Amino acid sequence: MEFSVITIFPEMFQLFSGYGISSRAVQNEQVKVSTINPRQFANNRYQSIDDRPFGGGPGMVMMYEPLEKSILAAKNALTKSAKVVYLSPQGEPLTQKKVNAFAKQDALILLCGRYEGIDERLIETHVDEEVSIGDYVLSGGELPAMVLMDSIIRLLPGVLNDSDSAIEDSFYDGLLDCPHYTRPAVLPDGQKVPEVLLSGDHKKIQQWRHQQKLKRTFERRRDLIECLCLSEEDKQMIAQWVQTNKK
Ligand code: ADE
Repeated sequence: MEFSVITIFPEMFQLFSGYGISSRAVQNEQVKVSTINPRQFANNRYQSIDDRPFGGGPGMVMMYEPLEKSILAAKNALTKSAKVVYLSPQGEPLTQKKVNAFAKQDALILLCGRYEGIDERLIETHVDEEVSIGDYVLSGGELPAMVLMDSIIRLLPGVLNDSDSAIEDSFYDGLLDCPHYTRPAVLPDGQKVPEVLLSGDHKKIQQWRHQQKLKRTFERRRDLIECLCLSEEDKQMIAQWVQTNKK
C-alpha cells in the first residue's frame, strides 16, 4: 500500500516511520509513505497557497492550482487510478466498513486541508471521497489522515502478527470489544479476574466474550446493535437486559 500525503506539514508524517506497528510496516516495505508540499507549486514569491474567501468572511481558503498540481504529481508518482481522499469535517463519517474497503486499494492520495478549507472546485473535480473522523473540528487534515492511515495499515496482510490479530478487534463483527485482563489474577487490593477466563474451557470463554461484547454494545452503543443481524440467542439475551433495565 502506498500513501501520498498532500500537506504543508510533511514533517508530521515522520511519525509513521518512528513508532509501533506502522513503523514496522514501513521498515518491512509493506507500506510506503511519501509527502507532497503544495507550497512547492505556489506561483508567488511568498510561497502562499491560500487566499481570502470570495464573498468575505473569516479565515483563508487553500487555492485550487497548487493543490491540483500536487494531486497530479502524486498520481504521476503512484498510479493515475489512485483515489484522492480529502479529510474534512464535511465528509462521510469514517467507519470500520470504510476502512476495510480502503485497505483493498493499492494506493491512496490523502489531501490535508488547513485554514477554512479548500476551493470547492477542487473537491468537485479531483476528490473521490471526502472523509470525516468525527463531528468535531480540528485545525487541519493531518491528524485525521494519520488516523485513517493507521486504521488501514493494521489491516494489511502480514502487518499484524498473531498476538495482535485484527479478528478480535472492536467492530470486526460490528460489536464493541470485550474486557481484557492479564496477570496477576488477583490484585493486592483483592480485585479478581472473571473466573471463567481461568477455567481453561475455550468454548465457555468464547461464549463469555461474545456475551460481554453484546452487553457492552447494548449498554454503550445501542445504535450499533440496530444495524446487526443477531442470532435468536443474542436477541433473547438483549430482551432480558431490556426487561431488567425496565425494573
Ligand atoms: N479536518 C478538520 N476536522 C476534521 C475532522 N473532524 N475530520 C476530518 N478532517 C478534518
